[in-house]
Amino acid sequence: MLKGFTDIHSHTLWKMDDGASSFGETLDMCSIAEECETSRLFVTPHLMYWDQAEELCDLRDEKADYLSDVLADHGSELEIVKGFEILCDDEIFDIKYFRPYTLNESRYILIEFDFFKTRGDDVLSWCRYLKSFGLVPVIAHPERYGFVINDLPVLDRLSEMGALFQVNAGSPVGVFGDDAMNISCKMFDAGYVDFLGSDAHKSSIRNTDMLSFFEDYPYNISEEEIKRIAVNNADFIISDKILVPNRKKSMKEM
Ligand SMILES: [Fe+2]
Repeated sequence: MLKGFTDIHSHTLWKMDDGASSFGETLDMCSIAEECETSRLFVTPHLMYWDQAEELCDLRDEKADYLSDVLADHGSELEIVKGFEILCDDEIFDIKYFRPYTLNESRYILIEFDFFKTRGDDVLSWCRYLKSFGLVPVIAHPERYGFVINDLPVLDRLSEMGALFQVNAGSPVGVFGDDAMNISCKMFDAGYVDFLGSDAHKSSIRNTDMLSFFEDYPYNISEEEIKRIAVNNADFIISDKILVPNRKKSMKEM
């Protein structure tokens, strides 16, 4: 039985980014998560401008704490965990302090990039910089970027330098298009999926239901593998312990 998931990536907090547009929608997204066997939901608004980071962090904390209180009052057992999805560019080299912005203030930092302009070498240097602070870069939806679609072995180089990968739960069933579907399935085969997230933005489409995607996964992605990733691996973030990834092949071989 598939249950007890951790969703490490969602835009559930209302009016913080292009995610939930009202508190009502936030509550709907939480209900969907809980009904679909997610027990822990990371709220990870986009952090795009460092000059707004402190203010955004305060606002996120206020909203996440309020949401947790309301959920508890309604008898919900869904646990809300704080994080950000951080847009990386060269501006990151000016930042020296990252902890308030990581996942659950752990060593794990969820990062995204411009979908079209980003080059693999840029990502390697941003990840190397983050590693120099003892952080573990967790790359959000690598299966969706042009620099990965055109050069799968870049994932080998990123993995070798210590980056981990969060695949969107809908990618292996085609929610994000054919390229993302093919690449995410190859990543599963090679043991390159470290975390799963809904990347939910709404309560309608692209919501917090990961379970219905898991139920439609190709036969070669086993329930055990889904549990290892969506249930067990996220515990390493919560406890801030080192996760040793389970690579089986290189992406070069895929
Ligand atoms: Fe996202």
